[in-house]
Amino acid sequence: MFITFFILALLQPKVRCNVDGKWSDWSIWSACTTTCGSTTQTRSRACTNPPPSNNGTDCEGSSEESKSCMLEPCPVPIGWSRWGEWGSCSSTCGVGIQNRNRSCVEPFPNRLSDNCFGDTTEHQICMQRACADGGWTAWSSWSTCSASCGAGIYQRSRDCTNPSPSPYGQHCAGPNNDVATCNSQRCPQTAGIWSAWSSWNDLNNCTEGEIISRFRECIKLKSSPYEPICNGHSADERPCVSVRLTGGLLEVYVNGQWGTVCDDEFDSDDAKVACRMLGFDNTKTATIRTDMVKGEGSTPIWLDDLRCKGNEDSLLECSHNGVGSHNCGHGEDVGLVC
Ligand SMILES: *[C@@H]1O[C@H](CO)[C@@H](O)[C@H](O)[C@H]1NC(C)=O
Ligand SMILES: *[C@@H]1O[C@H](CO)[C@@H](O)[C@H](O)[C@H]1NC(C)=O
Ligand SMILES: *[C@@H]1O[C@H](CO)[C@@H](O)[C@H](O)[C@H]1NC(C)=O
Repeated sequence: MFITFFILALLQPKVRCNVDGKWSDWSIWSACTTTCGSTTQTRSRACTNPPPSNNGTDCEGSSEESKSCMLEPCPVPIGWSRWGEWGSCSSTCGVGIQNRNRSCVEPFPNRLSDNCFGDTTEHQICMQRACADGGWTAWSSWSTCSASCGAGIYQRSRDCTNPSPSPYGQHCAGPNNDVATCNSQRCPQTAGIWSAWSSWNDLNNCTEGEIISRFRECIKLKSSPYEPICNGHSADERPCVSVRLTGGLLEVYVNGQWGTVCDDEFDSDDAKVACRMLGFDNTKTATIRTDMVKGEGSTPIWLDDLRCKGNEDSLLECSHNGVGSHNCGHGEDVGLVC
């Protein structure tokens, strides 16, 4: 018994079996990698049943296998196509309409029942050119001259109606009116009369020495058709005459110098004018005072025998002996309370 085992043990190394490798079973197919459309799936096997040993041969063939995996086609996104080009304008001049189209892009096969919302056609206003530009009519004849004598003007006109511009057409270029001077014969003249003088400008607020002026107009007599002509000047100017009260003493600024007024003939009408020049509106309260007068001084005595009516703008407009002509002394100077 022992010997048998021994012999077997000695023989053992000589029994060298070569074991060739053999494939295991295929694994199950892997899942498809997407949910729609075409893709691949794989399965694999291993050389383990049994593996090769003792210089046995390896398994022959591939350990992996794949096949295409066709699912249902993927849905195509649905929507509007781009707008097409604008079509031609419906009119060759003036305003027309043109349109453009788009279409609803359908999937194939149409799996989803979606629709495109909105219009397939869009419209817009179009214009190739205006149908007509404006054109001038001929000039009218000249109007009658504005003056029957002396320089006058006359005018003529035209209209942009030959033809009138159509909508969006050009208006006519240039003026529609033309004005020119027309010289009728020289006007004859007849004697006119002067209007009253205007009031002195700036009289009550002029600065001493400022030149102030007043104006009058040569007016033609109603019955005369001719231009009036008057002798003399239509403008008059003189230096500003100011008055002031110095301690109650009335002084007048004439010829660049302050001087006094003599009380000969000086009454309430004269006082009114003086107070108005001083800016007092209510001249009824003007009173003449002699108690303020000092009776001395070397200033000129400018006015004497003043006879105002009361409505004059300035003492110099009243009747008087002439500036600087007097027979008074300073004891007769006028004092005033306005
Ligand atoms: C396999 O074969 C080579 C030569 O082909 C030999 O040298 C080696 O000893 C062998 N191995 C076995 C385990 O038999
Ligand atoms: C748009 O479609 C309408 C209707 O089918 C057709 O009359 C028109 O000519 C199309 N417009 C353009 C620009 O293709
Ligand atoms: C008087 O003159 C002064 C200085 O020129 C001016 O500011 C003022 O407004 C004038 N007053 C009137 C009432 O004209």
